[in-house]
Amino acid sequence: MKITIGSDHGAVELKEEVKKVLAEFDVEIKDVGTFGKESVDYPDIAEKVCADVVSGAADRGIVLCGTGLGISIAANKIKGIRCALCSDVYSAKMSREHNNANVLAMGGRVMGFGPAGEIVRAWMTTEFAGGRHQRRIDKMMALESK
Ligand code: RB5
Repeated sequence: MKITIGSDHGAVELKEEVKKVLAEFDVEIKDVGTFGKESVDYPDIAEKVCADVVSGAADRGIVLCGTGLGISIAANKIKGIRCALCSDVYSAKMSREHNNANVLAMGGRVMGFGPAGEIVRAWMTTEFAGGRHQRRIDKMMALESK
């Protein structure tokens, strides 16, 4: 699986921790930055990560900012993206099983590394359930054209 990951300056350390957890899986990781403490704008990072997901260059994406809020909202503005902001393992599982989330968001200033790692593991190992959930996904995605 190919995963593109990116963060703003509020989650650079969390990004490194998430990459360590991703290395437990058979994944090819592309990191689009940022790499330092200098302030950057989270919509630019969301755009880079989500471009890979939409084009198929990545199977899924992970976006991180201080709270996870701004970058998840930005990601969900992009057609084809279903970005789930998760701060607990159950939501991370459900975001895959029910919502077929193709992008995971978390906040570097609100999450410990341990819980974030468990969220990533749950998100990586949970498959979309399909069935009645596919009908809801179809309706959700149709909202993009209304
Ligand atoms: C950046 O200071 C901060 O606003 C950003 O990381 C994020 O928390 C926005 O939602």
